[in-house]
Amino acid sequence: MSSSQTKRPLAASRSGPLSGDIRVPGDKSISHRSLMFGGLAIGTTKVTGLLEGEDVLATADAMRKLGATVTREDDGTWYVTGVGVGALREPDSVIDMGNAGTGIRLMAGIVATHPITTFFTGDASLCKRPMGRVADPLAEFGAKFITRDRGRPPMAVIGTDEAKPVTYTLPMASAQVKSAVMLAGLNTTGTTTVIEPKPSRDHTERMLRHFGVAVDVKINDDGGRTVSLTGPAEMTAADIVVPTDPSSAAFPLVAALINPDSNMTIRDVCLNPLRTGLITTLIEMGGDITITNEREEAGETIGDLIVTGKNRLKGIVVPADRAPSMIDEYPVLAVAAAYADGETRMCDLEELRVKESDRLAAVAAGLVANGVIHRIEGDDLIVTGGVVPGGGMVETHLDHRIAMSFLILGLGAENPVAVDDANPIATSFPNFEKLMGDMGAVFALHS
Ligand code: S3P
Repeated sequence: MSSSQTKRPLAASRSGPLSGDIRVPGDKSISHRSLMFGGLAIGTTKVTGLLEGEDVLATADAMRKLGATVTREDDGTWYVTGVGVGALREPDSVIDMGNAGTGIRLMAGIVATHPITTFFTGDASLCKRPMGRVADPLAEFGAKFITRDRGRPPMAVIGTDEAKPVTYTLPMASAQVKSAVMLAGLNTTGTTTVIEPKPSRDHTERMLRHFGVAVDVKINDDGGRTVSLTGPAEMTAADIVVPTDPSSAAFPLVAALINPDSNMTIRDVCLNPLRTGLITTLIEMGGDITITNEREEAGETIGDLIVTGKNRLKGIVVPADRAPSMIDEYPVLAVAAAYADGETRMCDLEELRVKESDRLAAVAAGLVANGVIHRIEGDDLIVTGGVVPGGGMVETHLDHRIAMSFLILGLGAENPVAVDDANPIATSFPNFEKLMGDMGAVFALHS
């Protein structure tokens, strides 16, 4: 979304029970990687179920600028014909990654070990986000970076053709940083290793294997992981069926739990164990969620979720070590916590401060505006639940998940909850309003 686009305020009102049998859009993480890896592979990769959100479309454009052929058929199937690892061409204009942190950081890893110079920019939200976390390890390969103050984009990456392999211990649990380093390792002679003290989502590892790259993963004594690959690697086109996004399923899921008598089936959800922290947490809170029809597809576990609103949620402590497996779900968990009896403590949310917005601050401001009692202690967020007064206007700061979370808050509140701008929702969940509306959610433009 362009940050100069006119804002679209939207309000959500108490809706009563929600019901439906739905499928949310494709997983954002897997969709980005499908286009990137397809563009690096030899041959043509067919992608079905791709998320056609703005973030992913920005990655499609980026791969085209780097030489890949990316096309879409009328039935929604995408084809990516790759150039081969090491053969990307220098883009002749600036690449605009829009709102996408995953897009810019993984692309930085890819181009860092190609002998080309690439200029990246993004929207007002992306241009506030720190790129030092990828620039630091990628500089160890020999790439050079020019960024604005404090590592913010726009960013130039001057890639190297004499890359040296790197062993890097992640200072934070971040799949984006892990992936950027591994992707730089593809066009580097020798073994590139990433040590992650806490396991983060492993789509890059799984998908690189699917494209024929030998990726070695060891579980460390402390529960972390050591991931390595040896370059230069060859990648071979491999078709992808994108499962649906658990981070998008989170919104209807919480909506059903907080509205008594709701009954919903959410189909084909990616149940990769490094993505299911929210489901585990909501079940611990007493939520009536049943997982059925579990199966393997294209290297990922998927399944259907059957959820009802028959149980009242209760507050719990969400442990810090669960954070990487539900990092994008805390805003909507805070909404669930607002409807739960007692206190919910969400521990160690430091990484939320560097998402599409400072999500800790944005969530706190949204809760204040709607009369929800909460406090922040260090990096913990503690929400006291019960009845939600609502009636507030929430600033979304170009953050799709803040917009959707607070619209869900409004579905059970005593007064409508408004968000100042619903446009960012298109980055990850373009049919959110229609899909929720069809299940009974009441949304209205807000003046
Ligand atoms: C993602 C990793 C996470 C997540 C983001 C998608 C990915 O970011 O928040 O939405 O696809 O690798 P971090 O790696 O910064 O935690």
